[in-house]
Amino acid sequence: MQLDRQIHDKVFCPFISKDEIAHKVKNLSSEIQKDYIGEEILFIAILNGAFMFASDLLKEIPGNIQISFVKVSSYIGAQSSGRVDELIGLNTDLKGKHVVILEDIVDTGITIDKVISLLKSQNPASVEVCTLLFKPEAFLGKQLPKYIGFEIPNKFVVGYGLDYDELGRNLNEIYQLKEE
Ligand code: IMP
Ligand code: MG
Repeated sequence: MQLDRQIHDKVFCPFISKDEIAHKVKNLSSEIQKDYIGEEILFIAILNGAFMFASDLLKEIPGNIQISFVKVSSYIGAQSSGRVDELIGLNTDLKGKHVVILEDIVDTGITIDKVISLLKSQNPASVEVCTLLFKPEAFLGKQLPKYIGFEIPNKFVVGYGLDYDELGRNLNEIYQLKEE
């Protein structure tokens, strides 16, 4: 039994276990592999949140793939600012490539919409999104993620790459904000 955790001023309770995550990551990797037989995928992981998810997912994919890590800044504290500045660190040519974006969480979808349109301007063959977590109630985006690990309620979560004001990313399970 995992215990509640205090991070900064808030208390979080265990929500998705290590085993549930590992199981889901395996399923997602199988789904992706089935859809891209004979194709080379370029994975683009969104830092910082997706680092752990990307690492675990890609270890399950034995074929020839590329991985690039990019950074966007849109989120401060416990509320999405809804603002994305730019994509930093993309130095791969996307022309004609099959791109799969890796995200830790799609909340309002504003970040991912912006990333998709920035990537599409480079004429890739296709662009899809694979997100570990998805909050359907918060989603305002245009393109639904094709690969979704867990649909979760509209409550703040931390762990497995996700932070609350930069703490909690190292946790190997996902925790949810506890209702007082
Ligand atoms: P969106 O633009 O609202 O979809 O938010 C995208 C980004 O906000 C994600 O990549 C996360 O970094 C962050 N985010 C959204 N919801 C949460 C949450 O519940 N916990 C931690 N970070 C979150
Ligand atoms: Mg993120």
